[in-house]
Amino acid sequence: MTDPQIVLTERVQQALANAFGSEYADADPLIRPSQFADFQANVAMSLAKRLRRAPREVAEAIKTELSDFPGTVEVSGPGFLNITLADSWIESEAQRMLDDPRLGVGSITPSQTVVIDYSAPNAAKEMHVGHLRTTIVGDSLARLHSHLGNTVIRQNHLGDWGTPFGMLIEHLLEIGEETAVAQLEAGMGTEFYQAARAKFDGDDDFKLRARTRVTTLQSGDPATMRLWHVFMDATVRYFNKLYALLGVTLTDADLAGESMYNPMLGKTCDDLESSGVAVLSEGALCLFPPGFTGSDDKPLPLIIRKSDGGYGYATTDMAAIRYRVHDLKAERILYVVGSDQALHFRMVFAAAKLAGWLPESVSAEHVQIGMMLGKDGRRFKTRSGESVKLMDLLHEAVDRAEAAITERGLDYDEATRKEIAHAVGMGAVKYADLSVSHDSEYVLDFDRMISFTGNTGPYMQYATARIRSIFRKAGVEPADASGPIVLAAPAERALGLQVLGFGETIAQVTAESEPHRLCAFLFQTASLFSTFYDECPVAKEGVDAETRKQRLALCALVLDVLETGLDLLGVPVPERM
Ligand code: ARG
Repeated sequence: MTDPQIVLTERVQQALANAFGSEYADADPLIRPSQFADFQANVAMSLAKRLRRAPREVAEAIKTELSDFPGTVEVSGPGFLNITLADSWIESEAQRMLDDPRLGVGSITPSQTVVIDYSAPNAAKEMHVGHLRTTIVGDSLARLHSHLGNTVIRQNHLGDWGTPFGMLIEHLLEIGEETAVAQLEAGMGTEFYQAARAKFDGDDDFKLRARTRVTTLQSGDPATMRLWHVFMDATVRYFNKLYALLGVTLTDADLAGESMYNPMLGKTCDDLESSGVAVLSEGALCLFPPGFTGSDDKPLPLIIRKSDGGYGYATTDMAAIRYRVHDLKAERILYVVGSDQALHFRMVFAAAKLAGWLPESVSAEHVQIGMMLGKDGRRFKTRSGESVKLMDLLHEAVDRAEAAITERGLDYDEATRKEIAHAVGMGAVKYADLSVSHDSEYVLDFDRMISFTGNTGPYMQYATARIRSIFRKAGVEPADASGPIVLAAPAERALGLQVLGFGETIAQVTAESEPHRLCAFLFQTASLFSTFYDECPVAKEGVDAETRKQRLALCALVLDVLETGLDLLGVPVPERM
């Protein structure tokens, strides 16, 4: 383990055990970055009472035990331990990282099977901006878990079933399959839905046919199933266009929509009823997980079969959680879904525990996604009040990126410019989604996300492109920059110390499902690189060959950290910008 904070924690705990006895080996040494040294440990103050000794005395005792520590330890004030790592230690750890293809990123042992439920747009409507965020955050989590050696099972829980499909299929028949398919492939799902809805509301004959169609669909009638497939296949082709544009890792093999669970719903209800977990209440089959009450203080039901016999969203999620634990052998399940569904998931998890379908050994987590807001602070919509088409939004990002590139006077041929614009546009959108904590609301602001300064996608991409250009000028391949790493100048040392935290950051971000903390780490790294580059010339005239070699090695390490980190976020990295 290379992360200085972790190394220090272990060393100080060892010192505590040596000085005061093994019962202190687990005490938190309270190590924080410090402005007076690299780190400060505040444990002496917190332990003084328990040890009935003066804090300074405790600190001195710890210091004595740290005499062989690679660095300096000083006691200051009431009993702070100021710890400065030896340059040679940072250098050798950085060198080890440079020589390690995994950059000090470990693997989770034993590895886990992680089911990640993300994206999950509804087929009866256009995929909207809310699904953009669940897609992007979920995809980053999938990349992170795979990188750490976990078995990742992506589950795209499409909204592809239910009563609206009666009228959608009838509308499809009326306008003709060909026209319908063309519309759906072009992303006109919302218009399609609205047209069907208008007929349903205004035409009694149509309404009757739509209702009958729901019944034939549910009975699995082959002709109706074929029409449903025509509708769904065209819709999925459109979703796939979006996924391709975004560069997310979802494929058709990950499709596991609501329809997939349809054959399981009857048994799901029967099993819950016969085991006594579900009970009839006013004709509906309900679960009453403990701890949930409504505004009237009455127990809140999770309805799994309505009084008319129909199944709903909760039924499907009960079937899905059983399938994921039992069939997919999930050890961890992440539901990357809007925060407005928090109550639903808390109830589903509690109900699944009650039913014995979610054992203690499996963790089910709702990774809440905050709502996307417009600049006015309200739900993101177009001027005319409609929700914004995702495809339009993505194209706008690419157009704006192209304008920004042109404005910067970058002189590329047409094809290269388009390629860079695509990477910058998608990078901007994705990074903006990822860099704020996933559960906070998020303001979609094109000007800010396309900006080349601050914690943005384009800034991060530019940082890597700049390092690549240093290598081009030096005529060296990053992979050939083998060092040795020497951290003589303060800016070099600060940068070296920073990158050592990469492995631990990845581990924590994955454990906590918090990609925004990876963004913060990469941004801090890029900022320190910027300072380094200002203060320490690399390949300029007058830099001696040895210094140049050492600095190129540090550049290569930083480049690898940034590119690996951005890849784990799913942010594309153009070679030049
Ligand atoms: N299709 C749903 C929606 O758009 C999200 C589904 C999330 N996953 C789940 N297992 N319920 O709101």
